[in-house]
Amino acid sequence: MAQYTTVNGSVALITIQNPPVNALRAAVREGLFNAIQKASSDPLVRSVVLSGQNGTFCGGADIKEFGNVSSMSGPLLVEVFALMETSMKPVVAAIEGFALGGGLELALACHYRIGHSKARVGLPEVNLGLFPGRQVIAGEALKLGLLDRVTDHNTVDTALAFAKSVEGKPLDNRRLGNRPCPPLENMDAFFEEAMKRVRSRARGASAPVVCVQAVRGAATLPFHKGMELEKVLLGTLFNSGQAQASQYCFFAERAGARWSMPSGARWDTCRALSISTAAVIGLGTMGRGITVALARAGLSVVAVETQEHQLAEAQRVVSHMLKGGGQVSYSSDLQAAAEVDLVVEAVFEDMALKEKLFKLLSSICKPGTLLATNTSTLDIDRLASCTRDPQLVVGMHFFAPAHMMRLLEVVYGPRSSPEAVATAMQLGKRMGKVSVAVGNCPGFVGNRMLKPYLEQAYFLLEEGATPELVDAALEEFGFPMGVFRMTDLSGLDVGWRIRKEEGLTGPDVPAGQPTRSRHGHRYSPLGDLMCERGRYGQKSGRGWYLYDKPGGRVARSDPWLRNFLEEYRVRNALVARPIHRQEVLERCLYAIINEGFRILDDGIAASPQNIDAIYVFGYGWPKHRGGPMFYAGQVGLARVLEGLERYHLAHPDVPHLEPSSLLRRLVASGSPPIHKWNQMVKGHRSQL
Ligand code: COA
Repeated sequence: MAQYTTVNGSVALITIQNPPVNALRAAVREGLFNAIQKASSDPLVRSVVLSGQNGTFCGGADIKEFGNVSSMSGPLLVEVFALMETSMKPVVAAIEGFALGGGLELALACHYRIGHSKARVGLPEVNLGLFPGRQVIAGEALKLGLLDRVTDHNTVDTALAFAKSVEGKPLDNRRLGNRPCPPLENMDAFFEEAMKRVRSRARGASAPVVCVQAVRGAATLPFHKGMELEKVLLGTLFNSGQAQASQYCFFAERAGARWSMPSGARWDTCRALSISTAAVIGLGTMGRGITVALARAGLSVVAVETQEHQLAEAQRVVSHMLKGGGQVSYSSDLQAAAEVDLVVEAVFEDMALKEKLFKLLSSICKPGTLLATNTSTLDIDRLASCTRDPQLVVGMHFFAPAHMMRLLEVVYGPRSSPEAVATAMQLGKRMGKVSVAVGNCPGFVGNRMLKPYLEQAYFLLEEGATPELVDAALEEFGFPMGVFRMTDLSGLDVGWRIRKEEGLTGPDVPAGQPTRSRHGHRYSPLGDLMCERGRYGQKSGRGWYLYDKPGGRVARSDPWLRNFLEEYRVRNALVARPIHRQEVLERCLYAIINEGFRILDDGIAASPQNIDAIYVFGYGWPKHRGGPMFYAGQVGLARVLEGLERYHLAHPDVPHLEPSSLLRRLVASGSPPIHKWNQMVKGHRSQL
């Protein structure tokens, strides 16, 4: 856990050993404590170097222990830090790889810090619902005073030589607690401004706000008082649901890598195909982003677009985004895809067009080429059936902008081979994405859950709400933008096109006709009516809001919309009623959650963690609320069920509000914790 050796006669070398990231779990803390004591009492030792094994200094406290702080054993981290800081012999940190969170605090408790030039240091715990902030690379850390020296050579050797050179030198001004904080002019105004900015960006997350309070304490109070304040603040954060939610997200983000398929195939038994060349077909917004993402991952990409003017425009935009990096060639001929290892199709969301394209690709591409579609909702298996090798067809559902958004849904059909899934998952990793393997159904996981969410938002408008009211409630909850601002951004016409494919849209028939019902269920044609009036959202300068120009970003309320909604209600004999934000939240969020339970029960997602990763990394669900399924557990499954029952009673013609059978079963069995939900799933497969 902490190996102790002596080098050069007088230097004790302590090496933290806890793969993969040398997290500071109980045994490590104990090992460090004992090793420092040993060095202090050994008369031959005159200095100490602290390093981590395998080129990694330390990834911080063990996040797995956070879930159960009360049962933590061994010395506390602060006790280890205090022992090091008060040591009479100089302790030098040799930082390779990273020193993050508690790992950086450990380095700061040393008297000197030597970092490799590629090392990263920082306090990223704000991402875990704790304070403070960002990571920096060694050069910047040196400027900030976090490091004393940066080296390109062997860091441990440099630190050993350095330790020898400072043996016997006074340590008082090297102890962090003794260093004064430089005075700041207009301290009050500075912190008030900082607090205002952080609050507006935090969207309801407490950690960044508490962080400002802690920094203020550090800058204004004596060291020990500042430490006491920090302890109190950290205690409140630790016990908040937000910290638990964020820590859950840390593991949910990584859980997708351990994917499995209902056939039993899994991440550790399938070999990915080797992919070095790719073709992207269709260079609209998505195709351009995908081209950039693949090129940045080191693939040689041929970007194909049959419309010449679109091709020229894409070439300009992609080159600009890549800034000269990446290998991309352009073609208007599908034959350019003949020799590639992977094709990603990103044409219009039109089944007939995609079927035709897959048939063509299947005859053009060399045997063994993986064919991926970027569809956001269409049937992967239907596309696979147009090809020679249906086992080599998968969905790779990117999110706009594809070169920036972290999420990738990898969709497998009943005939997709495990190797094809493994290949797409590995490619996701190469592109730095959070990849989640999901089954084939309309909308897969993300968009299937989005549908009832949008539906509720539209129904709320019909019943008397405004886009402003609905969006404000959702933004206050923590979404970066409410549902109406989001659909304005992504374009109302996208869903309209899909609904047309599904045969749901129709003319705005006169009063008295059943415009608000389809196939016996309640249906809101509001989105269709908006599109029929050319209101596509930001792209047309008007949607649920008004924008200064087509493509403009600043949303303003639109009096036209108020009239439009009033006329719509009159036409449909609807009487507007006051709607409270609590109802907005419950109906929108419970509808998402309910569909999530159905998706789990259908085996489309392998675990609630996977669903949550999709919502946090692809749909803006606030991290400090852990994802819809985790949030349901925090609210209480019985309360969610009761809410759904109440709303379904009030809206019996809305099937999405009818509580899912899995939710009912979970509540009936006493609402077990989230990691046990899979045991209650219909076709239960092992929890990975
Ligand atoms: N505690 C417990 N487990 C940790 C951990 C920590 N502090 N940091 C990483 N791990 C685990 C991960 O869960 C992962 O486990 P898995 O392989 O079972 O999924 C494994 O270590 C490797 O981590 P991963 O993130 O996949 O590796 P990486 O090389 O891409 O990144 C880090 C390494 C350290 C940069 C990244 O893991 C990280 O940011 N960790 C959190 C750092 C932090 O916030 N520390 C503050 C705690 S006070």
